[in-house]
Amino acid sequence: MPDPIYVRNAFARIADRYVLTNHVLSGGMDFWWRHVITKRIKQLRPRKLMDVASGTGDLALKIQDEIPDCEVMATDFCAEMLAHASSRGVRKTLVADALDLPFATDEFDVVSVAFGLRNMGDYPLALREMYRVLKPGGRLFILDFSQPAPPFQTIYRLYLHHVLPKLAGLLTGQMDAYEYLGDSIEQFPSGKDMIALLAANGYGNASATPMTFGVVTAYEAVKM
Ligand SMILES: C[S@@+](CC[C@H](N)C(=O)[O-])C[C@H]1O[C@@H](n2cnc3c(N)ncnc32)[C@H](O)[C@@H]1O
Repeated sequence: MPDPIYVRNAFARIADRYVLTNHVLSGGMDFWWRHVITKRIKQLRPRKLMDVASGTGDLALKIQDEIPDCEVMATDFCAEMLAHASSRGVRKTLVADALDLPFATDEFDVVSVAFGLRNMGDYPLALREMYRVLKPGGRLFILDFSQPAPPFQTIYRLYLHHVLPKLAGLLTGQMDAYEYLGDSIEQFPSGKDMIALLAANGYGNASATPMTFGVVTAYEAVKM
């Protein structure tokens, strides 16, 4: 699993270029992925939501705009990333490690984490910590990269390991931070493996919705 010191420093280095680079590297698909997950969260009419590993706040902002009566708390352990979330309009932000959240048990209706869990030093611990702060019956939403099915997998791996780091290097000047991305995606539990990990950490009714040929998957699970 990723080294938290490397991860925090890597995001601090790319924070100023992160938003633009994301849109370019995903070909704009990231707008669609956030739209899908926000639409589903809106159906639940949450009053209090935490967006964990919120980074520059794209998902938190979208949820804040789409569900105005929901209190949105954006947390991240990288102050440089979260400063952008604040300046872009996220009203509540807090620098906090997802492995040790400074919130009471049973506090949130929804916890969301987009492209964040994969970067954490201990996936089971992070899942249990997010479980703790959820109210009973509350829901966890994970949006993250996953493994597409063949034959698309081969093209995708070429893109991840050969095109993406060079393109991101040009945009950010930090190629190594994006070489890490490909490896982190390949080591991250995907599909059935993520469902099993959620179940092993107490969640029920876990489901997976693959998007864009399975490059990204939205997971939803309930605190029992
Ligand atoms: C790829 S960015 C995702 C940001 C945002 N959620 C998005 O969708 O654009 C990953 C974020 O995870 C954060 N992160 C990684 N490990 C963390 C941890 N243990 N606690 C809190 N944040 C963490 C990083 O600082 C970074 O901002």
